[in-house]
Amino acid sequence: MRLQKFLARAGVASRRGSEDLMTAGRVAVNGVVTSELGAKVDPATDTVTVDGREVRPDEGAAYFALNKPAGYVTTMSDPQGRPTVADLMPADAPAGLFPVGRLDLDTTGLLLLTSDGELGHRLLHPRHHVWKTYRAEVDGEPSDADLRALADGIELDDGSTAPARAHLVWSEGSRAEVELSLREGRKRQVKRMLSAVGHPVRALHRIAFGPVELGDLAPGATRPLTDAEVAALHAEAGED
Ligand code: URA
Repeated sequence: MRLQKFLARAGVASRRGSEDLMTAGRVAVNGVVTSELGAKVDPATDTVTVDGREVRPDEGAAYFALNKPAGYVTTMSDPQGRPTVADLMPADAPAGLFPVGRLDLDTTGLLLLTSDGELGHRLLHPRHHVWKTYRAEVDGEPSDADLRALADGIELDDGSTAPARAHLVWSEGSRAEVELSLREGRKRQVKRMLSAVGHPVRALHRIAFGPVELGDLAPGATRPLTDAEVAALHAEAGED
């Protein structure tokens, strides 16, 4: 594995930041300062240090799922002093966690948090097209034509939406629930798409992010991701 990738995965810095640490001569492999950007390490056998302190990837990178309740801002600190998702993390969670993407203040459901800067960045990059699945309670009952339009693409003020998946979960005339899966992540995208077909969102809940499912995690609760989920996220993010 390339040294800068090893450092990024361990949560030391982004890959770019890790390269800067290397070229600054602050990184050593088995005691030898290594500034060459092509350098490789074997995480199982090599000892990597930054400023003389050993970096251990297994301890460095943490991955959590949170069932975000409404009323919490998706940030680790809020200048306005509102409750943030950081308030919901376990007291012994490692430093350096950040949310992967954003849910609106009133949106509930699955939010991933990690200290793996490289993975977080890749998961959000449009190139990797990770599916995110939402359940939206809406006004009225979307027709088959509405659902087709949501799936085929809707013209929004920032351009047409990419192909998506949409189906009706239940309907009782004046209200319905739509399940919508998107590979994009534009601001307020689900709400804007449903408003555009005449069915404003009353409540929005995310149930899956790529291979990770919310399952029965209680509102406000967190859980560490399993090794299998972390591996699947790395695979979806296209890491080599
Ligand atoms: N789309 C929205 O409109 N809001 C969210 O929080 C997430 C996706």
